[in-house]
Formats: sequence, C-alpha cells, structure tokens
Amino acid sequence: MRIDPSSFRPPSRATFVAFEGINGCGKTTLMKALSACLRQRSVPVVETREPGGTPLGEELRRLLLEWPGEKKSARSELLLFAAGRAEHVDKVIRPALARGEWVLCDRFMHSSVAFQGYGRGIDLDLVSQANDFAVQGTLPDLVVLIDIDPLEAQRRIARRQGSDKDSFEAEDLAFHRRIRDGFLECARSSPVPFLVLNGSRSPDELRAEAAEALSLA
Ligand SMILES: Nc1ncnc2c1ncn2[C@@H]1O[C@H](COP(=O)(O)OP(=O)(O)OP(=O)(O)O)[C@@H](O)[C@H]1O
Ligand SMILES: [Mg+2]
Repeated sequence: MRIDPSSFRPPSRATFVAFEGINGCGKTTLMKALSACLRQRSVPVVETREPGGTPLGEELRRLLLEWPGEKKSARSELLLFAAGRAEHVDKVIRPALARGEWVLCDRFMHSSVAFQGYGRGIDLDLVSQANDFAVQGTLPDLVVLIDIDPLEAQRRIARRQGSDKDSFEAEDLAFHRRIRDGFLECARSSPVPFLVLNGSRSPDELRAEAAEALSLA
C-alpha cells in the first residue's frame, strides 16, 4: 500500500530517508539493503539511527532504552529524544546532506509522534513542537513506514538472536497497537511524503518496492 507517492519525486540531489514502524517490523533489515543498493551505485550514503547517531545520542540511547531505574516521566522521555535529535540533525544529518550524501535514518521524528504521542499520551501538538524545535526544518524527503501486526513483530523479536527487550519492547501489546495506528495516522496526515509498505512481505519484496520508489530499481 502506498500513501501519497505522487508527492515524492526522487531527487538527483542528496536524499534524506527515514525508516519508521513498530519494533521488529524490519526497519534495520530494509535500511541495510537499500544502503547496499546505493553503495553499488557509488552513491555516498550515511547510515544512522535514533536514538543515537552521535556520541551524545548514543549515551541518550542507553538512558532511553536500557536504563534500569524507575520509569521515566513521559515528558522527560520526550525531551531526551528531542535532545538527541537536535544533536543528530546539527552534527550528522544536515552536514551529510550539505556534502551531497544520502542519509538513511533508522527512526526519526515520527517515532516521537507515535511513541510519545500515541503511545504515552502526550498532546500531539506538544510532540510536534518538540520535534520542530529539534529538527529546525530538516525534514525527511521520504518516510518509509513498514506496517505490520504487532504480534508478528513480537514473534520476530523473540526469534532474533541475542536481543534483550528494551524499554519499549517490554511494553504490552495494546501499547504497540497504539504505536502502529499512530504511524498510520502520521502517514495520512503528515506533510512529509510517506511510502507505506506491508511488512509481512519478504525482505526482497520490501527492498524492491522501496528501491522502485526511490528510483534505485
Ligand atoms: N520482511 C521480513 N520478513 C520476515 N522477517 C524479517 C523481515 N524483515 C526483517 N525480518 C527479521 O525480523 C527481525 C526484525 O527485523 P529488524 O531487526 O530489521 O527490525 P527492526 O524494525 O529494525 O527492529 P527494532 O525496532 O527492534 O530495531 C530480524 O530477525 C529480521 O531478520
Ligand atoms: Mg532495528
């Protein structure tokens, strides 16, 4: 299923693609496959992730995903993600785009809408303000959203080798259903173009569909 593909024109210039979806939907797998496609064409590409992508961001990632202390307040969580995102945009994403490189980012601002807005229940306008402050206008050219049933995603996470559950993976199924619906709502309402892929298809099918949308096929 594609939503609003007409508003995305694969640019000849550097392109910022964000990969979104619930935990275990296949973001990292698809991002690595597309990165390999780009490298084969000798296109310079930066692969990065959120939370993370910078030394400060990776520290924040540890605090956000693995911190063993008491559960954070939803507002603290939102602001920690936003702090890491500001650092990431300033130090990695914007400079790479300015150098003419593609940026493939494993999660970005719509994860805050889905997780902190739809998941934790923070007012969506406040999440949007935090995102706007963090990204300062650096928006993805395309968001690739991998949509999948949370039960299937949980089965994949359980099968994946050596994966301890992070703070979000440990949340109940209802939480992940809200996240899924939140991402789909983003795809419907965001001004950023979304490519929505059916995550139950094979990795090869997903790569082919995303590569076609990005004119890499
Ligand atoms: N299209 C697919 N079909 C079946 N299995 C898949 C598919 N894509 C990825 N997988 C497998 O599912 C598991 C989760 O994939 P992956 O790690 O890419 O997801 P993710 O969205 O990056 O997860 P996380 O949110 O935890 O980082 C992995 O074991 C991966 O090999
Ligand atoms: Mg991943």
